[in-house]
Amino acid sequence: MGKRLVAPSLLAADFANLQRDVEMVNQSEADWFHLDIMDGVFVPNISFGMPVVKAIAEHAKKTLDVHLMIVDPDRYIKTFADLGSNNLTVHYEACIHLHRTLQAIKAEGMKAGVALNPHTSVTVLEDTIQDIDLVCLMSVNPGFGGQSFIENTYQKVSDLKNIIKRKNSSTLIEIDGGVNATNAKKLVDAGADILVAGSFVFKSEHPTETIKNLKETIA
Ligand code: DX5
Ligand code: ZN
Repeated sequence: MGKRLVAPSLLAADFANLQRDVEMVNQSEADWFHLDIMDGVFVPNISFGMPVVKAIAEHAKKTLDVHLMIVDPDRYIKTFADLGSNNLTVHYEACIHLHRTLQAIKAEGMKAGVALNPHTSVTVLEDTIQDIDLVCLMSVNPGFGGQSFIENTYQKVSDLKNIIKRKNSSTLIEIDGGVNATNAKKLVDAGADILVAGSFVFKSEHPTETIKNLKETIA
């Protein structure tokens, strides 16, 4: 059994009430904060940058799980470490020298994550899996919250789990995009450890309850 964590994505928070939403996550049963950084180049959207991450970090009392959807992420590894990121996830598709990038992230004292777009096979990680702390499987095309979950993800989770076991690695599997009460249980049953949830949490009537229920669903 994995660790089964829930990581609300602040992309779906109310940016005019960011402190309120950060405190909500602090008080809830959520495990991590998931922060989505988009550069308008790697993905067709721009989210938020360093000043906002800094503001979040000042209030957040849980692990900061930062997901970089940017080209050439090596340029900002130190910046995000200095901002207080605990996990730094880069996209496989954005890294020419992934192995070097992973070492650089760890050298800054962070956990190293690799995200895969829906079109990227998990098999590309066979030779680096032992160097990866977490793999973030995108279950939507990155760039926007509120999209529908891609069903092929279940198969990718179990294929990735098999690679992790075969290589005797302790890599965690995170699922990002379209996560909700309908797919959560099936995802952890397939081998997922961490579920990112944006809209499902923040657009719900009672986010704290939604997080609690999601944790119960995957317990
Ligand atoms: C998408 C982001 C996700 C997003 C998830 O590019 O990486 O983290 O916030 O949002 P939902 O849960 O609404 O699909
Ligand atoms: Zn994300």
